[in-house]
Amino acid sequence: MRTHYCGQLRKEHIGETVTLYGWVDRYRDHGGVTFLDLRDRSGLVQIVSDPQRTPDSYEQANTLRSEYVVEITGRVTQRPAESLNSRIPTGEVEIYADNIVLLNSIRKQLPFQVASGNSDPVREDLRLKYRYLDLRRDRMAQNLQLRHQVVKAVRRYLEDVEGFIEVETPILTRSTPEGARDYILPSRVNAGEWFALPQSPQLFKQLLMVSGVDRYYQVARCFRDEDLRADRQPEFTQLDMEMSFLSQEEIIQLNEKLVAHIFNTVKGLDLPLPFPRLTYAEAMERYGSDKPDTRYGLELVNVSDILKDSGFKVFRDAVANGGIIKILPIPNGNDAISNVRIKPGGDIFKEASEAGAKGLAYIRVREDGEIDTIGAIKDNLSPEQKQEILRRTGAKAGHLLLFGAGDAPTVNKTLDRLRQFTAREFGLIDATKINLLWITDFPMFEWNADEKRLEALHHPFTAPHPDDLSDLKTARAQAYDLVFNGFEVGGGSLRIYQRDIQEQVFEAIGFSPEEAQNKFGFLLEAFEYGTPPHGGIAYGVDRLVMLLAGEESIRDVIAFPKTQQARCLLTDAPSTVDAKQLKELHVASTFKPKA
Ligand code: AMO
Repeated sequence: MRTHYCGQLRKEHIGETVTLYGWVDRYRDHGGVTFLDLRDRSGLVQIVSDPQRTPDSYEQANTLRSEYVVEITGRVTQRPAESLNSRIPTGEVEIYADNIVLLNSIRKQLPFQVASGNSDPVREDLRLKYRYLDLRRDRMAQNLQLRHQVVKAVRRYLEDVEGFIEVETPILTRSTPEGARDYILPSRVNAGEWFALPQSPQLFKQLLMVSGVDRYYQVARCFRDEDLRADRQPEFTQLDMEMSFLSQEEIIQLNEKLVAHIFNTVKGLDLPLPFPRLTYAEAMERYGSDKPDTRYGLELVNVSDILKDSGFKVFRDAVANGGIIKILPIPNGNDAISNVRIKPGGDIFKEASEAGAKGLAYIRVREDGEIDTIGAIKDNLSPEQKQEILRRTGAKAGHLLLFGAGDAPTVNKTLDRLRQFTAREFGLIDATKINLLWITDFPMFEWNADEKRLEALHHPFTAPHPDDLSDLKTARAQAYDLVFNGFEVGGGSLRIYQRDIQEQVFEAIGFSPEEAQNKFGFLLEAFEYGTPPHGGIAYGVDRLVMLLAGEESIRDVIAFPKTQQARCLLTDAPSTVDAKQLKELHVASTFKPKA
């Protein structure tokens, strides 16, 4: 029987006989004495065997190799002064192994080093193929533990302090429009019909409010068939919540306490409450983004009014066509950023053009305070305009001012991207800072230029602001996002709970009454049976844990993630299936493999 985990042993255990199970992390022979580090999920402890003190285990100890699985019984002993190891918590003790049982050896060469403290970079495809070995490694094992701690803290707080109950909602369901493509599954029993995997439990949690559940939460798996990035997976986990009879203010406050509890439990930090807030309009104006990283400044400055009549056609046209002109002021940018980098072919130009910008006008403020306008805007700014630009941007000697001009979405996207690029280049990001921020008052809709229709910015169940009901198309939504160091970690809203308003919103996004009835008749009907006012939020658990762990990819905090190509390298899914299976499902494939 195991008496302890390896990582638990301390000075106070000296003299005890313990039984441990684990993997051999490292082994070495030191002048006839064998040292092994034994590892289990709690950490490492040093095992010693030599012919004098532990004759019964010595022979066995010498057959062990890295990653062999063993049972060891021995005496906890004080380490001699010269071999104390302050780097590990068990570094004051070692175990004299009276008995070693080999439970399993390894038969193949390890694809990469698993041993603790090994920081050799390993190719990610190899790590994912042998994920079970990768998860033995320090960093990944710690990430799994951290993830567990976060979810545990959430459960304790929501259940024990706030009275939430967890309810499971279906995985085989109808598609709910959360903006991404659905994963769909054919029904065998109902020929020609399909289930969708949930993009979120949105409609079910609202229906649970109709049922009187009052405070619901779920650690819910969600599925979205979208293009993958470092912070996106096709299958991810939400902490999903819904509450009845609470105002937006009350929901935000409850959530601040929840997030503070998580940070306090897993990081020992006391976050100052309340978190700062920005409206969507303000965030877009100052940062060009609805998820700004506020750990550094570099705020954007709108100069549309100063330059709307400028001699420079690009500026004039931008404003005349309903667009904007904004500046990203970069202190000390004059010296650090050469013209070559800003002009076509340069790295900064490339960033801007990838965001959709066609050109990048700029002004340099020389060390002597002389203003240097370059390229097409040269000669097109009056001395007054130059002075006003310097005044408004607060530019001083050494500043570089980068301009964005055009339609607002492109300008904001460009300058947001350049702002982040600049912050990284100039080392302005303090990695120890934790900036949590609410973004509120999102617009209800945005224009989908491809489909030429309005689209719900959050989702179509979000309630419009009560002051804006007269014109839904331009209304603000009662929606809020939580942003953590520039990542959207959560988003939610108050919901529509009256049938007529829900119908108006469906109409605004271009659903015919028949379509609305066909897709969401069950929801509209539920609203007629006494639906309480309600609202909620969902957090991206993977993103939150990624940020808490200091990782750069959510793949590093998910036990078995998919690659960027949405594959599982461990099981090699997705895979083909038998023709028989397809036939049973009433499905025929149109796919033609390339010859
Ligand atoms: P939303 O779509 O904003 O809201 O999702 C909530 C949070 O989930 C995380 N997230 C993702 N994480 C990893 N990979 C993905 N592909 C992915 N997509 C989203 C984000 C995001 O903030 N039903 C609503 C919530 C509500 O209104 O209550 C919803 O799903 O961190």
